[in-house]
Formats: sequence, structure tokens, C-alpha cells
Amino acid sequence: MKSRHHNGSGASRDGRERRRIFLKKQNRNGHQATKETLAVESLYETPLEATRSGALFHAHWYPTKISPESIALMIACHTKPGDLVFDGFGGSCTTAVAALLCSKPHDRLSAIGRARGLNPIWGPRRAVVYELTGLGSSIGQTLCSQPDPNQFASAATRLLDEAERRYGWMYRTADDQGNEAVARHFIWSEVLECSSCRAIKSIWDACVRLNPARISDRWKCQGCGKAADLNATPRILERTFDSLLEGEVTGKARRLSRVDGITGRRHWTRQPTSHDLELVARIQDEAVPGTVPVVPMMEKGGAAWGDLWRAGYHEGISHVHHFYTRRNLIALGALCELVENEPKPIRDALRFWISSYNSSHSTLMTRVVAKQDQADLVLTSAQPGVLYISGLPVEKNVFRGLWRKMKTIREAFATLYELKGSVEVRQGSSINTSLADGSVDYVFTDPPFGGNIPYSEVNFISEAWLGRKTRIHDEAVVSSVQSKSISAYESLLKKAFQEMRRILKPAGKATVVFHSTQSEVWGALTRAYVSAGFGVELSNILDKKQGSFKQVTTVNSAKGDPMLLLTRQNRERATARTSPEKIIERLVSHANAVDDPEEKLPQRIYSRFVAHYLHRHSSPPINADEFYEKLSLAKLQR
Ligand SMILES: C[S@@+](CC[C@H](N)C(=O)[O-])C[C@H]1O[C@@H](n2cnc3c(N)ncnc32)[C@H](O)[C@@H]1O
Repeated sequence: MKSRHHNGSGASRDGRERRRIFLKKQNRNGHQATKETLAVESLYETPLEATRSGALFHAHWYPTKISPESIALMIACHTKPGDLVFDGFGGSCTTAVAALLCSKPHDRLSAIGRARGLNPIWGPRRAVVYELTGLGSSIGQTLCSQPDPNQFASAATRLLDEAERRYGWMYRTADDQGNEAVARHFIWSEVLECSSCRAIKSIWDACVRLNPARISDRWKCQGCGKAADLNATPRILERTFDSLLEGEVTGKARRLSRVDGITGRRHWTRQPTSHDLELVARIQDEAVPGTVPVVPMMEKGGAAWGDLWRAGYHEGISHVHHFYTRRNLIALGALCELVENEPKPIRDALRFWISSYNSSHSTLMTRVVAKQDQADLVLTSAQPGVLYISGLPVEKNVFRGLWRKMKTIREAFATLYELKGSVEVRQGSSINTSLADGSVDYVFTDPPFGGNIPYSEVNFISEAWLGRKTRIHDEAVVSSVQSKSISAYESLLKKAFQEMRRILKPAGKATVVFHSTQSEVWGALTRAYVSAGFGVELSNILDKKQGSFKQVTTVNSAKGDPMLLLTRQNRERATARTSPEKIIERLVSHANAVDDPEEKLPQRIYSRFVAHYLHRHSSPPINADEFYEKLSLAKLQR
């Protein structure tokens, strides 16, 4: 067995050197490397890790967020202090945060630069970031306003104390021994109706087993003995009075199935008692604060309100408030009411804090899952990038969650408070910016990946609470609800790249991160930047250590997102001459030659396959599933 000498980036020295030669050949193929490209070439030699850790990353969720540290490293290697950086698809505006980070990199960040043998020039930058959505731009604007961490923490503590004084009773209960205790969360369950004898049973009773934990996807009716698939079994619906809509609505019946609580430091679980059910009934009579949004989903309401709407699990969900239990609506509404009385800018910092916890932890999208070899079910937050509600939704204690979240946000604000730079986040479309011709030194951006995530829809619930809207007209997305085909998406991308080219200095460069499993989406991207007058100078892989939910669950996904360095080039799109089989064969022999297990992963080879084509101003001619089929025939040694 070969011995492995791992360096800081996780690759062996031999493997690294071989890959260096391999990539240099790839990079030089088709065009001359300039002095400047050679200076940043080392940045594009081995995959750049983007770890999803640290307070800045976790301060506020956002789908497909990139770690600010990896973007800071890119900025510090591509620009010098005082230069202007631009991102036209800002998302949560991490590029703006990264530009600030350049002024004072923390130890871990400097160490990554050193470990990769890079020569970043740290120091304050200027940045302008455009983001279309109300949520993304509000996250960016709050972070870049660099709130005072101590002012934030003392206001948040005061508000949370007050909210608990008024509404803490909603989560107070008795433990399994009858002592006063606090509920950590409540597990609810949809109710099944046997299609043959009409007997009724909760999913909890029919399908959940503990020690070890298991949620079965089949169940057996105890009335008639008929076995059925969970997914195919009809759910019981019920008509209830919706006080916010002042009328009756039909939705899924849900039964309280388990209470998880804490007494002192002792965690416990038990079945619901009559006290818990009385509490739920009492909350039904409690007024909901006026700050709770009463907004139809995607302004449309009814059924089929968006690309993420599903006939099954969105039954009865027409408005934003239907994603919540009444208890959590009241808790969040009360906090928002208290925040309204606070002075700006601390008010924005407090809204950010509530928003950061809100849609990923406070809604019925929070759930429990069974993991292998675990005795109990595992609590998990909402799945990013979808609006999925499981048959076993969880109602978390909002106040407890916000106490915890306060610490992370205070830490993130404390980091930002120390930083310098002139950064601006604008809510708007990057198709038409107000930046002057040739004013930007460097672009770092990751446009939406086709129809992978409809950001305006995923962000809608949070925006309803924040009172910020998204004008979807220019949203670069493939969407049936928005009537945007792949060619409409391509034309929006093309306009954004043309604008990028207009504002870039002649020697300016753009790093673009992208990911797709579909050949036609890659085609749209390459046609868009080539027709805007860009070409690929270098390419690499941004290895997000844990993919977004869609990336992880999509069969045949990519390991790491291809990352392209674009420069002004007026080149025609090339037509691929070598067959995909030949390219796969070459990539496999490279993977077999290097001593890095990550390079042998089929998903990594797929990312390299895509990069190969993009480099030649073309796009992969086959979809990921076809690629994996062909790869299975190649002789990959693992
Ligand atoms: C992949 S995300 C960027 C994520 C970001 N890098 C981060 O770390 O949070 C792409 C973003 O582009 C935004 N977007 C789509 N079309 C846009 C347009 N025409 N102008 C500005 N932003 C747009 C979407 O709302 C989405 O937030």
C-alpha cells in the first residue's frame, strides 16, 4: 500500500503535483496563459474547500450559501486592497461579507491561504452586491451594517425576557414525574384512514418504532388487517375556524403524539397528557398579535401557488400562517411586536435574529427522522430549498431556540464589528446596475442553477414576516409557474453577463461557481457567457463540504461545484470533437494515477468532466445520469 503524505488541503504531494501538470495542460489547452493567470493559477490547481462552519456561516440560513472564508480567499488572491468587487447574484450577500473579512482575516483563514501555498494580499476592499430577493438583500444589508454585538445581545435578552414573561406559559408543562418543566418540542402526527375499513390511526401509532428508531413506510390496519403503503394512504382532513382569515378552512388533521421537555438539566420524553391538550385548546382562544403576516402564498394562495407546491403535503396550506402552529405564531408575533419599538439599526439586527430562526426552525417544516443505529428519532430543521412538511411535523419551543441562536449571532456580529471596508448591498436586478462602465476589478458570483431552487419562493415565508417583497420579473430561474423556459433563463443570464462585462475593467476577471446535473442547463450557462464576450481561462472545483439538500439527495449529483475564471474573450462556442467516452477514459486514468480518494469519487469525476467541456467553450453533451452509466463501464480503481 502506498504511504500518504497529506498536506493542508487534504491531497498528497505526489498526487497534487500530477494534478498540477494535468490541470496546467487542461488550462492551457486552447489559449495562451498570461502572466496574471499564472499568478492566480495555484488557486485553481486543487479543489477549494468551502466548509460550512463558523458563526458567520451559521448566522442566517440561505439555500446554497457559500462560506465567506472561501470567497475572501478568492478576493484576496484576485485583487488588491481598495479594489472594487462585484457580485450580481448575491444570495445572502456572502461576497460582501467576504470583502469585509479581507481587512482582518482570522487565523483559520490565513492558515488556509498558507496551507495552499497562496499569496493573498489582505486589506480592506470595496464591494457592491446586487440581490433580487427581499430576504437575501436584507440579510446582506444587516450583516454589512456591522451591528454592535453588545447592543444587540442586551436588546435581544431584554426582549426575550419580556416575551417569555407574557407567553412563556404556552411552553410550560409537567414532566414525566409530575414536576414543573418546559417543553423543548412537540411531535405532531398526521392521521391515516384505512381505505378498506375506514379505521383511523395516527402515523405515530402506525409507523413509528423506537429502540432502534424506525419510521416504516408501510402500515397494517388493526381493524381489518389490511397492509398499505404510507404514501398511498389517505389522510384525515378537518374543517377548522381560521381566526386570521375569519372563516372556515380545510386542512390536514394532526394529533399531538409526543412531548419532549426539560426539567433543570434533565431531558425527558413522554406521551401527551390532558394538560398538554388543554394548553392547545387554551392557545386557540388566545389572540394572535397583529405583526403575524396574513399573506396568501406567492401572493396567489389557493392551491398550486408555486413550483414547490405539492398536492399531498400542502393540502390546506394556502397562506403563510398555515405553515405554523398557533402557539409558534403567537410567540413569533409577540417578539416582532416588541422589536418594532426598538430604535434602528438595532431593530434590523433583532429582525435578522428572529428571521434566522424563523422559517428553518419555527414552522411545521421542522421534522423528525430515523437514523441508522439511533435509539430515538432525530430532530432536524426544515429541508433547505424545498417547502416540505412531513407526516410527523415538529413544533419547537421558539423561545428556547432563540436563546441559543442569540449566541451565534452575537459572535458573528462581533467578528464583523472589527472589520473595515466599504461594502454596499442593493436589492435589485443585476441585469441593470447603476455601476459605471469599466469600474469593477473582480467579480465573484454563483448564479441560480437552472430550476434547482426557486429562491423567490423558498424565501417567501421569511419575506412575509420581514415585509420585504421580491420582484420576480428578472429572476434567473427555470420555472413553470413563472413561465420561464430554459431559453428564458438563458436570456436572463446572458443579460446579466453582458452587464458584468460592461462594468468590468478590461483586465477584470470573474469567478463563477455553478452546478447542474443537466446538459441543457450547462449549455444555457456557456452560451450566456460566451455570447456576452467571456471565455474560461481557468477552472477548479469549489468543494462545499456538505451539499445543499437538493445536491445531497439528487441522484447522480456532482462532488463540488465547478468554478470558472472568466475573462474577456471573443470566441465562438466550440463543438466537442472528442467523444464523452474518450474524455471519461482520460479522467479515469488521471483519477487512478493520483493518490487522493476524493479524486476517485464518481461525483468528483463528473465535476471534472463538466469542467473539461466548459474550458473548451462548450458544454457537457450528456446529462449526469448518462455520464454515470458510462463511468460504470470504465476501469476506475477505488
Ligand atoms: C446561488 S444563489 C447565491 C448564493 C450566494 N452566493 C450566497 O452565498 O448566499 C443565487 C441568487 O441569485 C439571485 N438572483 C436571481 N436572479 C437575479 C437577478 N436578475 N439579479 C440579482 N439576483 C438574482 C437569487 O435570488 C439567488 O439568491
